Order: sequence, then C-alpha cells, then structure tokens
Amino acid sequence: MTIQLRALTPCIGAEVSDIDLREPLSPAQARAIHEAMDRYAVLVFHDQLLSDEQHFAFTAALGPMEDARGSSLRNAADFRLPTAFADVSNLDGNNRVFAADDRRRLFAIGNRLWHSDSSFKATPAKYSLLRAVSVPSKGGNTEFAHMGAAYEALDAETKALIEDLVCEHSQLFSRETIGFSEFTAEERERFKPVRQRLVRTLPRTGRKSLYLSSHAGRIVGWALPEARLLLRDLTEHATQRQFVYSHQWRLHDLVMWDNRQTMHRARPFPANEPRDMRRTTLKGDAPTVEQVAA
Ligand SMILES: [Fe+2]
Repeated sequence: MTIQLRALTPCIGAEVSDIDLREPLSPAQARAIHEAMDRYAVLVFHDQLLSDEQHFAFTAALGPMEDARGSSLRNAADFRLPTAFADVSNLDGNNRVFAADDRRRLFAIGNRLWHSDSSFKATPAKYSLLRAVSVPSKGGNTEFAHMGAAYEALDAETKALIEDLVCEHSQLFSRETIGFSEFTAEERERFKPVRQRLVRTLPRTGRKSLYLSSHAGRIVGWALPEARLLLRDLTEHATQRQFVYSHQWRLHDLVMWDNRQTMHRARPFPANEPRDMRRTTLKGDAPTVEQVAA
C-alpha cells in the first residue's frame, strides 16, 4: 500500500494518511491518488503544513494546471498569491478582511451556491486542491455532493430525458441567482457563457455523472423557465444528504475533489474573521462538448 484510506461516508470522501505532501510524489503514490479520486471523489489530507511552493509542486505532480487569473473580481493589485492559485480567502491584497459590502466579497460568496469549479470555462476543471491557511472560529464548512451517485439514483425516464442535453454555464448566471447583477461591459465579455454536457462520463471508470453547477443557466433548445426548473429539480435531487459529505476545516488541511463527479458549496462564517484558503486546480482534458458562440 502506498497510502492509507479511510472512507468518510458510504458514498463520498476518504481521509488519506501515510503521506507527507511536502515530499516529492512518487509515481506509485500519484497512481494511488488518482485511483482513490476515481473511487471517493473527495480526499482529505490532515496536518499538511505546506508552503505555496509545496502545494504547487504536489499539484503539478498530478497533472497540468489551470491559471487562476480572470475568474474573480480581484484585480492585479489584490493578488496575494502566485497566479496558479485561486485566492478563495476573504482577504484583499494587504491581507485585510473585505468589508461586508465589498463588491469583490459579494461576488465571491456566490461560492455558497452548489457548483463545480470552472464549469464556466470551455475546458472545465478536473481536480481542485484547497488548503486551509487560517480558519474562522465557527462555520465555513465545505460540503461536497457526489454527482455519480446522484445520477444513478435518477429514474430511467429522467436519465433518458437528460442524456444528450447541453447547458450554458457562466458566472453571470450564478450571481444573478443571488441578486448580484451589476457587471461592467468588460466583465460581461469575460464571463460569456460556455457549453457543457449535462451528463458526463468519467473516462477512466466509465461512470456517468450529472454535470450540474449554479453556473448553469440555460439548456440549449429549451425555454428558459423550463430549463431553470429542470436544473433546480436536478440540483435538489443531487444534493440530498445521502450524497453529501460536509468537511469541517482544520488548520493545515488540504482537501482535493474531482469537479467532474462532484459539486460543492461553502457555508457561511463570521464576515469579520479572516478565512485564508488557497486553491490550485488541475485542468480538464478537453471541452465536454463542441463550443458555439452564445
Ligand atoms: Fe468552488
């Protein structure tokens, strides 16, 4: 055995031990991690006191990475981290907590809606690796729902209905849901919708999953109200408790999840407390469907 695994729920998530992520990853360890991801979709590594460089190196050993720029309302002056990192903290470029009404914060708390990272990119994310550098005194859990298990629990009629559907994803749609709609012309252009299949197949296992995300706002060929209602119904189904693992963060946790077969959401925490979370992201292999200008 290269790593030790302990399942966290019957459906999703495992805790990994017997590995120090500061050390270079051996090919056998990388293989074991990919296999564990296929099976559990979420892996939790406790007590990993990593530098950003070590976090980056661990990620790079698992595959090609996304560049994090352009996906939030932070401008270059707000960047605290290397550009391979999504800054999931509530801190500005000077490490100060955003004011409660700060536009960058109000956009960022859209991550409390169930979503899959980078589903708004033509080639969406594979894995996300999120590391807790500081945690609030309470709240701030991240919840994960297994989209493969949710797909399998659908009735045959629904499976047939959705098999070939294509959705349009954009951060404009997810933010509209929470009443955040004041975007500049540049932001509207940058956040233009992309297309994604609604049912995906995981290449290595052949397992099908629902590719849902709060960024999904249209279904190609469908009237908007019907599309929104189907997406809402599927999301309600897919986020039932039996499909969910809720992660309570400890300092120096690193949690890795597969965006192709899970959704996740952040939970609230006191807005005046720092929560420093840093994410690297592995790039997906290819678009899920041919792109057409929206
Ligand atoms: Fe996320």
